[in-house]
Amino acid sequence: MGAKIIATGKALPELNVTNDELSKLVETDDEWITSRTGIHSRRIAVDLTTLDLAQAACSPLFGFDAKANGVQISSFMHEVIDPESIDLILFATITPDAIVPAMACNLREELGCARSIAFDLNAACSGFIYALSTAEALMVASRNAQGCARNPIKRALVVCAERLTHLTNWQDRNTCVLFGDGAGACILEWDESDAGILSCYLQNEDDVDRSLICPKGYSSLLPFDEEGVLFDEALHARIFPNGVDPKNVDYAYINQLGAIPDPALERIKEYLGMSADENPDAPYESIRMDGKKIFSFASKILCSDIEHALEMANLTMDDVALIVPHQANERIIRFAAKRLGQPMEKFQLSIMDCGNTSSASVPMALTDALLSGELHAGDVIVVVAFGGGLTSGAAVIRL
Ligand code: UT7
Repeated sequence: MGAKIIATGKALPELNVTNDELSKLVETDDEWITSRTGIHSRRIAVDLTTLDLAQAACSPLFGFDAKANGVQISSFMHEVIDPESIDLILFATITPDAIVPAMACNLREELGCARSIAFDLNAACSGFIYALSTAEALMVASRNAQGCARNPIKRALVVCAERLTHLTNWQDRNTCVLFGDGAGACILEWDESDAGILSCYLQNEDDVDRSLICPKGYSSLLPFDEEGVLFDEALHARIFPNGVDPKNVDYAYINQLGAIPDPALERIKEYLGMSADENPDAPYESIRMDGKKIFSFASKILCSDIEHALEMANLTMDDVALIVPHQANERIIRFAAKRLGQPMEKFQLSIMDCGNTSSASVPMALTDALLSGELHAGDVIVVVAFGGGLTSGAAVIRL
């Protein structure tokens, strides 16, 4: 009895940029990228929004067409799902189109999931595991008399969509070769059989070295100081020398001008480990990563999270048909396979033509795995991911 996966979907932008093409942008080459990461190309969402990608990944599951052009879609499903049968939408992303409304609320409207509750979640690249585990926990809780929803949550849609290439510094060869855009979706259904999520193990550790950050989350817009409103005439005249009625001021525009300093900015920079003269608003000041630190965290945590989740489910590696790990680097996956004493065939590899798509990588890889035809009802799989935060987690699932 539990939350069973009944359908999954995947959407990738059609624009495919190869390693050779990237070598025109930064000093790199196909040999370096392929041998160090396993990535041959990545997909770029030039004018596709995060919502476009999410809607495209979900569209076949509900029998819709994708709204946007230029997306490649695949799905694993047995039947078309009625959008009104969805009770919960959980959307994990680090690249929402807007802060409010949440992406889940936008998607709810787009898909016509008129009965669902909907909200977003940010657990960086571990987003799918955190969303899956939250969905399952809410399904369980909603079955109690004091449950959290109007009705028991029978069906949940977990969606992960990312436009990481819009947070990428395209002059930094250490990171720009790694990331790509895409979306993955998964529908869970409460099931009375022995199929479904058997265990979820989530864990965090502090990223004390700030080894994976993206400073863009802050805003320098603040027309106040400790005394109150800064919008006196003098300040206004300085920002708008040509005379603009203060009532019609576009604060977002002021923010772009960087005209009003944020008194907390120095502390934010200090916290993020940025130097005092760095401008976090500057273009190309986006995802920063200490690859080596994340590599060693990832290779260690991938194994221990899988082991913890299996232990919680009272199973061993011998019971597992396939592990679907976060697709950040093929070498991390090979390292984990070796450490766990398992053959590489037991690990899904989908990184080659899409790179690291953060939260979307596991549901996309899961769709590939289910479409391979090598998994069968009753098989046990493990999904596992790690990422900024630092977050990580694994879930054991019986198909
Ligand atoms: O989902 C978020 C989690 N992120 C990750 O899991 C990423 C984890 N880390 C990694 O995957 C790897 O650390 C990287 C792929 C990012 C880097 O691989 P590495 O084997 O750790 O390379 P490195 O950072 O030690 O760099 C080795 C050399 C350096 O040159 P020097 O200093 O030895 O002369 C780099 O400057 O390779 C150089 N280098 C490159 N050369 C060609 C770094 N990036 C590139 C590049 N092309 N794109």
